[in-house]
Amino acid sequence: MKKDLLSIKDLTTKEIEEMFDLAVKLKRNKSKFNKVLAGKTLALIFQKPSNRTRVSFEVGMYQLGGNSIYLSPGEINLGVREAVKDVAKTISRYVDGIVLRTFEHKNCLEMAAAAGVPVINGLSDFSHPCQALADLFTIGEKFARLNPASHKLGSKLKGLTLAYVGDGNNVCNSLLFAAAKTGMNIAVATPDGYAPDGQVVKDAKEAAKETGSQIRITQDPLSAVNGANVVYTDVWASMGQEEEIGKRKIIFKDFQINARLLTNAATGVILMHCLPAHRGEEITDEMMDSKNSVVFDQAENRMHVQKAILIKLLSKD
Ligand code: CP
Ligand code: NVA
Repeated sequence: MKKDLLSIKDLTTKEIEEMFDLAVKLKRNKSKFNKVLAGKTLALIFQKPSNRTRVSFEVGMYQLGGNSIYLSPGEINLGVREAVKDVAKTISRYVDGIVLRTFEHKNCLEMAAAAGVPVINGLSDFSHPCQALADLFTIGEKFARLNPASHKLGSKLKGLTLAYVGDGNNVCNSLLFAAAKTGMNIAVATPDGYAPDGQVVKDAKEAAKETGSQIRITQDPLSAVNGANVVYTDVWASMGQEEEIGKRKIIFKDFQINARLLTNAATGVILMHCLPAHRGEEITDEMMDSKNSVVFDQAENRMHVQKAILIKLLSKD
């Protein structure tokens, strides 16, 4: 049966671990895998702009021996020119996998239900699973020295704490699921009214019972960052919320990653951002460019991890 990747909630800890193991190999030895998806084609249906997701999927597919087709917002005009399920059924006759970047998450669910091929969520208003997987992979790499006895990258996350400071958005939701599934602790600090989805927090806490991950939601950024090994942020207004930025700049002003906020973070703290960053808003220039910032390693890892996702989902016939 085909498998989709719509939310990290649907993945088991073992599946994440296997994905990371494969991504390590893909990153170390590019040429070994250059034919594994030969003859396969990936469609990218995007209703929002993208740099990292589009380029890393297209280049990744090419490096695995396959092809990709990018379909811009105006091309498919999802749900307007044609119903989501009709797009899914038609495209499935041509390609071997679909990456969908959309607004409402229900489009991902409808696409996956109707498509005969795997559907990967390349960002919806609800979640950004590929991002969070690459983020945890990056954290595992950066903190590998803490648990040298284990070869498993995922197991290196246990006991670390990530502080997410900012909007309780799609990226935050996915990080909550990802932390819960891998045993990493997570503290989320958002302004009042911008907390992550209540059901996500509930589901993540349920999953955390299995792994020992500790999940904390607060409105105090300083307390979230206290002792954190990783400090993560994202834009204050996501794609589709651009008109709210004036209001949000006032509400989120104390939720900026800056030198003062990091005073009580753990020694060797790393700074993460899914990008694109709005320098001077959610993160200062100084912090983005500091030696603690790993934002471009994080961006690079999108490709290695997504290649693993593509092999896992598309190489099954
Ligand atoms: N982080 C991320 O998904 O970037 P893009 O929006 O540029 O794809
Ligand atoms: N939360 C952001 C993430 C961009 C990668 C957005 O949805 O626009």
